[in-house]
Amino acid sequence: MSWRPYYEKTQNHPPDPTLEFAQSRVSADLPKIAIDCGCGAGRNTELLRKRDFEVFAFDLDDEAITICSKRFEKDSGAHFTIDSFQSFEYPRASLTVASYSLFFCPAEEFDESWQRIRSSLIPGGVFYGTFLGPKDSWAIGGGAQNGTLPVISHAENEVRTLFEGFEIEGFDERNFDSKTVNGSEKHWHTYSVIAKRNLT
Ligand SMILES: C[S@@+](CC[C@H](N)C(=O)[O-])C[C@H]1O[C@@H](n2cnc3c(N)ncnc32)[C@H](O)[C@@H]1O
Repeated sequence: MSWRPYYEKTQNHPPDPTLEFAQSRVSADLPKIAIDCGCGAGRNTELLRKRDFEVFAFDLDDEAITICSKRFEKDSGAHFTIDSFQSFEYPRASLTVASYSLFFCPAEEFDESWQRIRSSLIPGGVFYGTFLGPKDSWAIGGGAQNGTLPVISHAENEVRTLFEGFEIEGFDERNFDSKTVNGSEKHWHTYSVIAKRNLT
C-alpha cells in the first residue's frame, strides 16, 4: 500500500501531543540523542530537533525518507535511513519514539526488534510509543486497509510485561470511535506508554 496520502496530510501536522512531555522526562545529564522509529513525514523529528536532540530516524517506506531528507536537508542533526524495526542499527539513545508505528512491525520480527529498542536505550533513557489494544478495529479486522496491512496488538498486561526493567511514567489507554488520518471510520484502542529504563 502507499503511505503517500498519509504523508501529504501529516507533513504539516503538529507533533504527537504526548511527545513534548515524553522528551521532558529525559534527564538533563544524558546525551541528547533520540531515535524516531517509523518517522513518516517527520512531524516528531521536527519537535525533537527543536528540543536539541540529535535525531536518528528511520522508516521502511522510501517515500517517507525522501520527504524527510528534503524537509531537513539543511539540518546536520537529523539523520534518515530506509530501514525496518528489524534492520535498523539502533545507536545508543536517551529517547526512543515509536509514535503510531510499532504496531506495523511484522509479528515475527516484533520480539527481536523490541529487544533492540530496549537495549539501545541508555540507563535512565526514555521510551515513548503507541501500542494497539485488542479492541482496536484493525486488531479485530486483521489489519489496516481492510486487513491488507497486518498489525500487531497487545493486551494491557502484555504491554506492561514489555516494560520489565523500566519504570512506567505514563500509561494512557484510549478507547474511542474516530477516523484515520485518511478519513476512514475506525475504532481506536491504544495504549500510549512513557517509560524510563532502570539505572541498573
Ligand atoms: C501511521 S505512520 C506514523 C508516522 C509517524 N511516526 C507519525 O507519528 O506521524 C506509520 C509509519 O510506520 C512506517 N512503518 C510501517 N512498518 C514499518 C516497519 N516494519 N519498520 C519501520 N517503519 C515502518 C510506515 O512506513 C509509516 O511511515
